[in-house]
Amino acid sequence: MQEIGTVISTLEGPSTRKFSFVINKDSIVRRGQFVQLKSHDGNLIGRVLDVYKMNKYFMRPESVKEYESSGRHVDDIFPVDHWEYLVADVSALGVHTGNGFVDSSFPPSPGTRVVQPENHILSDIFGIDNNGLYVGTIPHHDVEVKLNITKLLQKHLAILAISGAGKSFLSSVILEELMARKPEQGQLAVIVIDAHGEYTSFADDPKYAGRVSVFPVSDLQIGLSNLHGYQISEFFPNLTYVQIRELVKVMDTLRKKNYGLSDLIDAVELSEKIKAATKDILISTLMELRMTGVFGVADYPSLEELTRQGHLSVVDLSGTTNLNRKQLVVAYIARKLFNARKNGIIPPFLLILEEAHQFVPETMKKEHAISRGVIQTIAREGRKFNASLCLISQRPIQLSTTVLSQCNTHIILRITNPYDLDHIGKSSEGMNKSVLKQISSLKVGTALIVGEAVNFPLFVKVRHRQSKASEKGLPLEKAATEYYARMKQKHKDAKEFM
Ligand SMILES: Nc1ncnc2c1ncn2[C@@H]1O[C@H](COP(=O)(O)OP(=O)(O)O)[C@@H](O)[C@H]1O
Ligand SMILES: [Mg+2]
Repeated sequence: MQEIGTVISTLEGPSTRKFSFVINKDSIVRRGQFVQLKSHDGNLIGRVLDVYKMNKYFMRPESVKEYESSGRHVDDIFPVDHWEYLVADVSALGVHTGNGFVDSSFPPSPGTRVVQPENHILSDIFGIDNNGLYVGTIPHHDVEVKLNITKLLQKHLAILAISGAGKSFLSSVILEELMARKPEQGQLAVIVIDAHGEYTSFADDPKYAGRVSVFPVSDLQIGLSNLHGYQISEFFPNLTYVQIRELVKVMDTLRKKNYGLSDLIDAVELSEKIKAATKDILISTLMELRMTGVFGVADYPSLEELTRQGHLSVVDLSGTTNLNRKQLVVAYIARKLFNARKNGIIPPFLLILEEAHQFVPETMKKEHAISRGVIQTIAREGRKFNASLCLISQRPIQLSTTVLSQCNTHIILRITNPYDLDHIGKSSEGMNKSVLKQISSLKVGTALIVGEAVNFPLFVKVRHRQSKASEKGLPLEKAATEYYARMKQKHKDAKEFM
């Protein structure tokens, strides 16, 4: 074990929570790294909060000034570099004993040697699972972070950061890991609600050939005959109970047939039992539904197409900007998945929701948040049925707090907005001021994991992705040069044609 320093006695410690050590001459110790030392109960592990340099020759400002003003430097006269030393402040995480990990309840003694932590102890402490999803490494240490799939996903995951911080990149890494699992390791059916068409590239990657389906929004259909009255009420939260009841009655008369929205509108129009005022409202409501263009005779994709174990289904919503339409699709798919999972007719699934704040907003009125109810239901009850959510958002503050607090693991990349930081501080466990401060200065690709999946908040350097990245969201420079090349070619073609 490599020794890196010795615990010193300071005014505040060593205490059970904090201690400092002086760093050996040839050792490098960095802020954020972990250290290990023998304590009364076992191997104590701590995190370096800060490192600072000391030199007794420069401790008294008046004498430094005195020398400088005499025209000489202190280091001309004294061997100052011999007296420079480094001190690290450490916060104790806990103690690795023979059987498990316990809170640090006894201070280390001054004079104790501090060593580089053993990788297997670090793995143990953070709850790393060798059979888990490999998402990256612990910064400053050669330890792979592999997250237990049950702890990470069963009680839902939220990935939060400003745009461009690496959320989609990280979720692609998680997808790669899920797709790499063998049946005996437990495979999920994964469905991604892909707001920007960033995940469609999985379908072009030969590694995943035959295991990825892409469903563009223009092809999606909600089969009216499969629709229940309560779903209509979900789609139109402003309809009254009586109006819904009348509509469901009409739908029941059509139930045996395959019918479309126009058939339903006709049937409502022709019904003699519905009062004129109700009829008007129902018809205008159904007309509005027709405008979204997602209703048809049969469901597409079917449940079987959407949920196959070990497969990835990408619902590509990039083809529409109509939020209402997107919410309808998400509400319908989520409800269908959840019900089917409750009945045990589809495999355990993970539903990944990009731009989650658009689908589960905190403050929007009901009629502008059609998908909120069902996502909240899955967030609350999904764990019992192995229906898992992964919510991705760059606007945590706009995301339903109910849902956010049900996500037992949060992975946070760079966040700068103080309101978002405050929100996260309140909704994530184990967050203190110093951790929150670090979030705003994280580099792209560095993430903080807090919650169920790890025993302590853990920073991770997200690993490189192996899958093909999407062409969408090209860097500005590349987009501009490509546009130029395309226009030039067009010009040339036109010239040759003449
Ligand atoms: N871990 C990483 N390693 C290398 N590059 C990364 C990493 N994470 C993100 N990037 C790069 O940063 C850019 C933004 O990442 P992206 O995942 O699209 O951000 P977000 O989804 O948060 O807006 C992309 O070009 C991506 O390739
Ligand atoms: Mg993204």
